[in-house]
Amino acid sequence: MRAVPHLMLEPAFDPSGTSRDAVGLGASAREGLDVRHGTILTLEDINVSFDGFRALRDLTLYIGVGELRCIIGPNGAGKTTLMDVITGKTRPDSGKAYFGETYDLQRMSEVQIAQAGIGRKFQKPTVFEALSVFENLELAQKADKSVWASLRAKLSGEQKDRIEEVLATIRLGESRRRPAGLLSHGQKQFLEIGMLLVQEPQLLLLDEPVAGMTDAETEFTAELFKSLAGQHSLMVVEHDMGFVGSIADHVSVLHQGHVLAEGSLEEVQANEQVIEVYLGR
Ligand SMILES: Nc1ncnc2c1ncn2[C@@H]1O[C@H](COP(=O)(O)OP(=O)(O)O)[C@@H](O)[C@H]1O
Ligand SMILES: [Mg+2]
Repeated sequence: MRAVPHLMLEPAFDPSGTSRDAVGLGASAREGLDVRHGTILTLEDINVSFDGFRALRDLTLYIGVGELRCIIGPNGAGKTTLMDVITGKTRPDSGKAYFGETYDLQRMSEVQIAQAGIGRKFQKPTVFEALSVFENLELAQKADKSVWASLRAKLSGEQKDRIEEVLATIRLGESRRRPAGLLSHGQKQFLEIGMLLVQEPQLLLLDEPVAGMTDAETEFTAELFKSLAGQHSLMVVEHDMGFVGSIADHVSVLHQGHVLAEGSLEEVQANEQVIEVYLGR
């Protein structure tokens, strides 16, 4: 169990030192998300170099509204860098990155991007172990406040309803009062997905969500993602091909920073170049 006391005293989820302005912008960005062409994410000719090493090369990728897209590819293909570009953590050298039709991701801060409706789940769960499941969700919902201010502030009926709904979705209703530190690895992952869901993101980015999960947890994750698609758009990076096969209608294969192939899992698995990349290793 991780020691958290010092963390709990810091303003949580607020890397920028918050600003009410940023929060206000988030709210309007969300209402105003323009997806009239059915595309929630547009990446065109994205290039990212690290000291001359080209991690992403002319990468072009579109995610449709409500789509569940899987991104596969060998280690070092650029999958995590791709998510870093979408969330504003890494700035591309060139290319176009839009959320909806009008939000230019390259002109937004990481905080603004998150508040506009792009949620990201990292591999390692980062829940507050000493706090209960419910409190973790409560905090995530009020991500603009410090931990103590959040816990003191009263939840509106609507906020409570949303938390209840999410608790049911992630199947942690019975554990709502348990300290998060007592949950299994898989349950912590579900809690973290719940912490994204209470913020009602339109686009969810998930990096290797089933790593370290039991078969039953993996199966539930597949069900969960399929149920979230439609309402949300999802981009899932995953190595577990069984899992990918069970959820994805559409797969993009990344190789050396470029999209090598796209299609159903069967289609990309039959692609000569993809076979070469995977078997060549
Ligand atoms: N901050 C960085 N500085 C230098 N090289 C990096 C950095 N981030 C990623 N890379 C390199 O870019 C390539 C793509 O990495 P990454 O996006 O993590 O791949 P993947 O997630 O597909 O395994 C790798 O060769 C990696 O070493
Ligand atoms: Mg990675």
